[in-house]
Amino acid sequence: MHRHRFEAKHHKRLDSAYRRRILPPSTTLKRFGLKKGMTVADIGSGSGYFLVPAARIVGKESAAYAVDASKEMLAVIDGKKPPSNVVPVHTRDGYTFKIESGAVDYVIASAILHENEPVRFLREIRRIMKPNATLLIIDWRKDSLRYGPPMEERLTPDEVKAFLKKSKFKAIKSVVLNTRYYAVVAKKV
Ligand SMILES: C[S@@+](CC[C@H](N)C(=O)[O-])C[C@H]1O[C@@H](n2cnc3c(N)ncnc32)[C@H](O)[C@@H]1O
Repeated sequence: MHRHRFEAKHHKRLDSAYRRRILPPSTTLKRFGLKKGMTVADIGSGSGYFLVPAARIVGKESAAYAVDASKEMLAVIDGKKPPSNVVPVHTRDGYTFKIESGAVDYVIASAILHENEPVRFLREIRRIMKPNATLLIIDWRKDSLRYGPPMEERLTPDEVKAFLKKSKFKAIKSVVLNTRYYAVVAKKV
């Protein structure tokens, strides 16, 4: 069971000039602690908006896992000739990722948590993370304009923090990023 998921045919919407302006991917990832040498996983990597800059930041010696439930989305990334350290991972159900336990330093989950059963989804993310690894959640503000997913599907930062706690994460930061998105940063405990 999962909520409505973003359709691959709309992938160009994820890479608009406006989004790049209000949510600059490389700057955002560095701001929230992504560094060279880290192993990174972008869960729901979509068209590669965060994945490609993340792969560049960590450098070619470190894996950048592109995890998506949509094969079409993974094909969009492949068509962009991504950096050589990008490793595509298809997940059939969206709740089991073919990545070893404790392998990842940094997980990105952007515009995806609201599309899933949060605790089931977060527990699988936690499994692939090293102790004290970082999880960056970016999601749609519920108090923002109507553009984006249905209001009733969106989560508030407080709801996200409660799901994180249930899934054995410690939220360390919650920030309103712009008119559309907020970020919650958490550590695996
Ligand atoms: C709205 S898009 C966001 C893409 C990207 N994270 C971004 O911010 O540009 C959501 C993506 O997550 C994928 N997705 C949704 N639930 C997923 C899950 N449980 N596991 C893997 N991918 C998932 C969808 O197929 C889609 O590519």
